[in-house]
Formats: sequence, structure tokens, C-alpha cells
Amino acid sequence: MSQDKSYHMTPGEFRRYGRAVVDWIADYYEQVESLPVLSQVEPGQIRSSLPPKPPSQGEDFEAILKDVSELILPGLTHWQSPNFFAFFPANASGPAILGDLLSSGLGVQGMLWATSPACTELETHVLDWLADMLGLPVKFKSDAAGGGVIQNTASSASLCALLAGRERATNFTSNERGCDGRLVAYTSNQAHSSLEKAAKIAGLGCQNLRTIEVDEGYAMRPDALARQIKSDREAGLVPCFVCATVGTTSSNAIDPVPEIGRICQEEGLWLHVDAAMSGTAALCPEFRFIHEGIELADSYCFNPHKWMFTNFDCDCFYVADRATLIKTLSVLPEYLRNKATESGAVIDYRDWHIPLGRRFRSLKLWFVIRHYGVEGLRHHVRRHVELAQSFATWVKEADRFELAVPAPLNLVCFRHVGGDDVNRKLLERLNQSGELYLTHTVLDERYTLRMCVGQTHTEARHVEAAWRQIRDVAEEFVETSR
Ligand SMILES: Cc1ncc(COP(=O)(O)O)c(C=O)c1O
Repeated sequence: MSQDKSYHMTPGEFRRYGRAVVDWIADYYEQVESLPVLSQVEPGQIRSSLPPKPPSQGEDFEAILKDVSELILPGLTHWQSPNFFAFFPANASGPAILGDLLSSGLGVQGMLWATSPACTELETHVLDWLADMLGLPVKFKSDAAGGGVIQNTASSASLCALLAGRERATNFTSNERGCDGRLVAYTSNQAHSSLEKAAKIAGLGCQNLRTIEVDEGYAMRPDALARQIKSDREAGLVPCFVCATVGTTSSNAIDPVPEIGRICQEEGLWLHVDAAMSGTAALCPEFRFIHEGIELADSYCFNPHKWMFTNFDCDCFYVADRATLIKTLSVLPEYLRNKATESGAVIDYRDWHIPLGRRFRSLKLWFVIRHYGVEGLRHHVRRHVELAQSFATWVKEADRFELAVPAPLNLVCFRHVGGDDVNRKLLERLNQSGELYLTHTVLDERYTLRMCVGQTHTEARHVEAAWRQIRDVAEEFVETSR
């Protein structure tokens, strides 16, 4: 066998094809607005267009890229379309994409400080910047007792927070012996489903996750929380953790963190604040009200991969006491021992999250923050909120539509007055049209449409067109069903 034979891409080919891919992405962004937002394919359609067997001989890169355009693109729902108003956004931007590309190109593993010092130190630095940018308490910064780390998702951040809360409550014995079925955690009945998953994974069991009732604005009721904790203690259980949400997924409700925080302090419970999407709003001083009471939290997370122009995945997770988190997650096999770790002078982020390996994700955040500057980021976040607020005003003024709840930021929950069936069919027709993509929730037992404005390139004309389309389809539909 020839020792010199190589199938690798040469540097020259990499340059040529790399440029082709960047051009492809730029073309995609130029045309994405005209593509049907929600993919129109049938289940199995994409797979049936792919060869049943892998190629035994390598193929031309041009052929691969052509198949992306012809076979893959039709099966995409275009999260980067300015007409994407569904769920919460997962927005991206040029600097983030290029930072991510560079991270792939460098291909470093930042599990230990020693395995790539810049990967760790840039992350610590950028997360400290972000703490200042959001006006977070100094206790969450690395020069205090806390610090921030990039996790893949808010789900992982909540799980790590729950694990740390569990260990603090049991003096680290559940790590040793497992859980005994008596630990209890609390969140509102509007919290994200990732909390239920975390309770399962952390060994509490989902029956030991209490979902506390909410007020008429869908925010957690502190009195109900306090009552539940008391009754659990009386039953011999061990409360350990509360998760408050700043911006619930259904309706963007903001839990009363000051009151919840006081209860947690009195009861000695770990308080985690999940601000997955809405945390980004705190870049703007006028929206910092969302973080009222945050100084009482033990941990906090928000996702730049939702609303801060940083492509998936990127969740920023902060703790006030890094020692507890590290003690909860640390294991040190012989093969990871090194002088820097033993010196105690460095951060090893492997101890701050579940996986060992980690990508150089702070590069894309650094690129985003440096490209936009704080003012640039504020400008676009303010614009999204303004557009959503205009939409909310149009809904309020329309005869046949109503707001389901007040819209505090960039999510508007609304309904046609014709009832659940009308709203369900309206949503289906709007999404089938390909012109926009909205999703739904149920509030007050009524089917409710959600319009979330947070896509990077959404402008006034897109929101205006969406509202026109919603009204037109509703009118047509209600007319024809008469
Ligand atoms: C409030 C809230 N928390 C957590 C999550 C989960 O986010 P991730 O996909 O980063 O785990 C979401 C997702 O929309 C969310 O809205």
C-alpha cells in the first residue's frame, strides 16, 4: 500500500471550496426571505431522495454542495428567515457564523486550561463582559466567588444548577450514595419542560418536582411556593432547589424573583433563574426591570443563541459560588492531571458542566460583541421590542382579535375571537402558506397564537406583512366557513 496516498482535502481545495461555502451561505441569506418558512416536505421525503448506501469512492465537493441546494434545502424550516416568528428565535449573524467557522478550523478542545489556555481565558473574559453588559451582580463574575461558563443549552444549565442545589442541600452525600427520594425541587407550572427532564436526570424524580401555581399573568405565586415548601418539610421531605423563570416559553411571564429569592434565602434553597430568551433584553437599561431580585439568585442563565445573534449553541450560565458547582461535578482521573490544574491558578471548565470535551464557543460570542458593540446589540434588541409592541397595538385595536396577556417584551400572545377551532385552523393555513411561521400555546385553557419578534433580519415590513396576512387569512377563512 502506498504510504503517500492521501484522500485529504488539500489546502488549495480547502480555500476554493471554503470560499464556495461562504458564498453559498451569503446567497442563502439573500434569498431566505423568499423561501417557504416552514418546510413543506412529507415525512420520509428527504431520506428517500438520498442514496441507500454510502459512496465507496469520494465525490467532488461541487456535487456535495449541489445536493445541499437540491436535496437538503427543501427539507429545512428557515429559522433565519425574517418571517420566522415561531417558538423563541435561534438567531444567527455574520460575525457569529465566522467565529464558529474559526472555532471548527482551530478544532481545539478546551476541557482543561492546559489543553488550550486561550479557549478558557477568552471564555472567562467574555462572560465577565457579558455580566457587566446585562447588569448582573458582581458576585457572578470570575474575580468574585462566582463566574460564568458557556453551556450548550439552557437545559444543561438548569440541570447543573439543580445538581449543585442537590449537593449543597445534602452536604455532597447524594453524589456519594445517590438520592433517597426525599429531595424536592420547585418551579412554576409555566416553567420550561427542561426542568422536568432535569429532575429525572438528577435522580429526584419528576414527582418530586413541584409545579407551583401561577397568578393571572402566568407568573409563579410566591405564597403558593412558601406553602408547598412548608407542607413538604412537614412531610419529612428535603426541599433543595427553586427555578424561577424570566420570560416563560408560553407567554413571556416574569416570575417575581425578589419574593421567590427571599423565600429561598429563608429556607436555604438554591435559586436558579432561567432567562433563556428574555435575558438578552437586559442589554438595554430600560429593560433591566426583568432582572429585579437577581442578586438573590445562586445561578442564572440566558441563551445568546436565542436572541443575541449568536448561532446555536451558546448558553451562558453563571454561579455565585463556583466552589459548590465544581465540587458537585469534579472528577479527576489520572490522565487529566497536570501542573496547571494542581497549581490551583487556573479554571478547568470540564468541572463546570456535564461533558468533558468542549468547543471554543467563546470565539463566536467575542466576534458578536466586538462586531456590534454594546450599542449595536441594544439597537437591534430595542427594535425587536418596538416591532412586537406595534404588533400588540394592532391586535388590541382590531375588532376580531384580542391580546391573551400583556406583552412585556418581544412576544405577543393573541387570538382570533372566533374560538379554538378558528385559531387552530388559522395557524395551520398561515403556516401552510409558507409566508410566515407562528406557533401556539394554550393560555387560560384557550388556544392562543404566539408571535415572537427576534430574528436577526426582521424589519417593520415583515411584521406589517405578517399582520396583513393574519387578518386576510382570518377574514377569508371565517367568510368561507359561514
Ligand atoms: C424559558 C426557557 N428555558 C429553557 C429553554 C430550553 O432552551 P435550550 O434549548 O437552550 O435548552 C427554553 C427554550 O425555548 C425556554 O424558553
